[in-house]
Amino acid sequence: MTQQSNSHHQHWGSKFGFILAAVGSAVGLGNIWKFPYITGENGGGAFVLIYLLFIILIGLPVMIGEFVIGRSTGRSVCGAFKHLEPKKPVWHGLGYLALITGFCIISFYSVVSGWVIGYIFEALRFSFSSFDSPETAQNHFGNLISNPYWTITLHGLFMTLTAFIVVRGIKDGIEYWCKILLPILGVILLILMTWGLTMPNAHEGLIYLFRPNFSELTFSSVLVALGQAFFTLSIGMGVMITYGSYLKKDINIVSTSLYIVLFDTLVALWAGIAIFCPIFSLGMNPAGGPGLIFHVLPIVFQQLPGGYVFGILFFILLGIAALSSAISILEVPVSFLIEEKKMSRHKATWLVALVAFWVGIPCALSFGLMSKVKWFFGRNFFDFLDYISSNIFLTLGALGTAVFIAFVWKLKPAFEELAKGGGKVKKLFALWGFLLSWVCPIAIGAILIAKLMEF
Ligand code: PFF
Repeated sequence: MTQQSNSHHQHWGSKFGFILAAVGSAVGLGNIWKFPYITGENGGGAFVLIYLLFIILIGLPVMIGEFVIGRSTGRSVCGAFKHLEPKKPVWHGLGYLALITGFCIISFYSVVSGWVIGYIFEALRFSFSSFDSPETAQNHFGNLISNPYWTITLHGLFMTLTAFIVVRGIKDGIEYWCKILLPILGVILLILMTWGLTMPNAHEGLIYLFRPNFSELTFSSVLVALGQAFFTLSIGMGVMITYGSYLKKDINIVSTSLYIVLFDTLVALWAGIAIFCPIFSLGMNPAGGPGLIFHVLPIVFQQLPGGYVFGILFFILLGIAALSSAISILEVPVSFLIEEKKMSRHKATWLVALVAFWVGIPCALSFGLMSKVKWFFGRNFFDFLDYISSNIFLTLGALGTAVFIAFVWKLKPAFEELAKGGGKVKKLFALWGFLLSWVCPIAIGAILIAKLMEF
């Protein structure tokens, strides 16, 4: 199949702008909310090591593959698979799977992001100063997230903010805002990390995060580590295919992907340091689960000098990270509707945001009115969507993408596309081909089967 670009498609304004947008997508709640608490739940350093291995051996090759598919076709996720393999409709399913995954992820993602916005206000209005024990902080959090008005309003507010950026398009919306937000995020994170490192007994947090203790690693930790590698890099659901479709041909995909993966990993580790050093410094429990940053950290902020300002900064940091990721999730169905259904960007964006808002409502109610509704394999709606999308759908999407490139589309045209950006290191391409053809399918396939059995 010959590759041709879709001439109606927009493009990034610059390579730097594209890198910031892709880093913005990758760096999100996954790095600052999820990574620290699942590290806490899965025993620390050994988990971090497995996670890093997955990022390098599986995540990076799949990300490069998604950019190659996107740029070579210049199409949205569904159009891309159809364009490359028009005669084998079974592969077009990968595009539709990506759309479904996007809706699942954005709906619970927007709910947690709404909590984050709510906590910026909580930090501003000195709420944390009344927390005299972990129980008060936990009760406060529990009361807020079980309040339907609080969660649904904030979820709606976050979704509206996301749509406001997406509706402005690639260069003037996503790229423009990522160029403003990401540097702010970097500065806040560095301030918080330095703050964490200077605390008494901060080294205990570092030991926890970096010293591997394999006796605490279980098989299910390995599954969680792989799911987290996909989630954090925003791969397996067409975001990087969509972002890749706006790429110009002169960009070196391999080196750019390396930067994105490196930044994403650094942010997760820095966030881990910024969170665990103060937690250990105060002798608190690092395994706080999904509420870790909402009811353990506020106590930390309340007890330490300067905590008021650092508390506000922390939740602003989280809000920025969430927003720059949410726009990338929304862009996947939006670009699909613009391209395949010929809708205007305006109409497509508000339609997708509205549907995602509705799907998010049962997620927002999962900790209050609907907390007893556990029809979904024993999980509430929120946990069900999180589990099925982060662990099953993303894994399936990443596996399908790797197999599609290696065995259906074949590696030769993929190598040709890679070479266009100036990366002509044959050995590197061969290594990528090997990882994508063998390491990714075997490792992801084995883990996916194990996950399905666990379900
Ligand atoms: N990578 C984002 C994070 O770590 O929070 C979440 C995410 C964005 C997942 C986009 C999937 C996605 F397609």
